[in-house]
Amino acid sequence: MIFTEGKVIDKFVLKNGEEVVIRFVKRSDAKGLLKLINSLVAERAKILDNKKYTLGEEKKWVKEAIGNSNEKRLIYVCAESSGMIIGGLGIRIGRGATYRIGELGLSVSHDYRRFGIAKKMLGTVEKICKDIYVDMIYSSYFANNRASMIFHRKMGFKKVGKIPKALDYYGKWVDLMLVYKKLK
Ligand SMILES: CC(C)(COP(=O)(O)OP(=O)(O)OC[C@H]1O[C@@H](n2cnc3c(N)ncnc32)[C@H](O)[C@@H]1OP(=O)(O)O)[C@@H](O)C(=O)NCCC(=O)NCCS
Repeated sequence: MIFTEGKVIDKFVLKNGEEVVIRFVKRSDAKGLLKLINSLVAERAKILDNKKYTLGEEKKWVKEAIGNSNEKRLIYVCAESSGMIIGGLGIRIGRGATYRIGELGLSVSHDYRRFGIAKKMLGTVEKICKDIYVDMIYSSYFANNRASMIFHRKMGFKKVGKIPKALDYYGKWVDLMLVYKKLK
């Protein structure tokens, strides 16, 4: 399996009739991904990022992501509709003793939630993980992120536990939940 830049992996139609493509990240995605991450920061989504990025920072991130993808250290897919990036999901693959474990991170644009986009992206990436012998993934989320909590549970993640008051959510301490899923 080669993580070819921009290669389309899946296509499906949303219940509102829009077509969504799931594909590997490509160099020209910086603007689209910047819009997505900055919209999440603007809505104060319960994610680790809490300050907006610049285009220069995002270009650097995308360049690094593609470099890591080429080395099979990262699987990063985008969900795209009408030329707009509406979701992103990445699995960062471990080093050394953790080479069979991947760390998940994901988000979907506000207006496209509850359409099954995160579920589709995760399903796509889980198949790729198995192809490259990554057989366990883990994830973490703000304990008060209800959508994330239900999403992970529905997708088959099991709770490991929580780190109390680990995260600063705009001045309020929140617990960090840790979950994992075996793929085989
Ligand atoms: C969490 C998040 C990624 C889910 O993405 P999504 O595309 O809306 O999720 P899906 O539509 O694929 O949902 C799959 C299932 O997860 C559960 N789920 C997802 N969002 C939910 C919500 N807000 N409330 C209850 N259940 C939810 C449901 O069981 C859903 O299936 P259903 O719609 O058939 O009932 C999205 O809400 C998001 O990006 N939030 C902001 C950023 C964030 O919190 N990122 C996660 C950090 S760990």
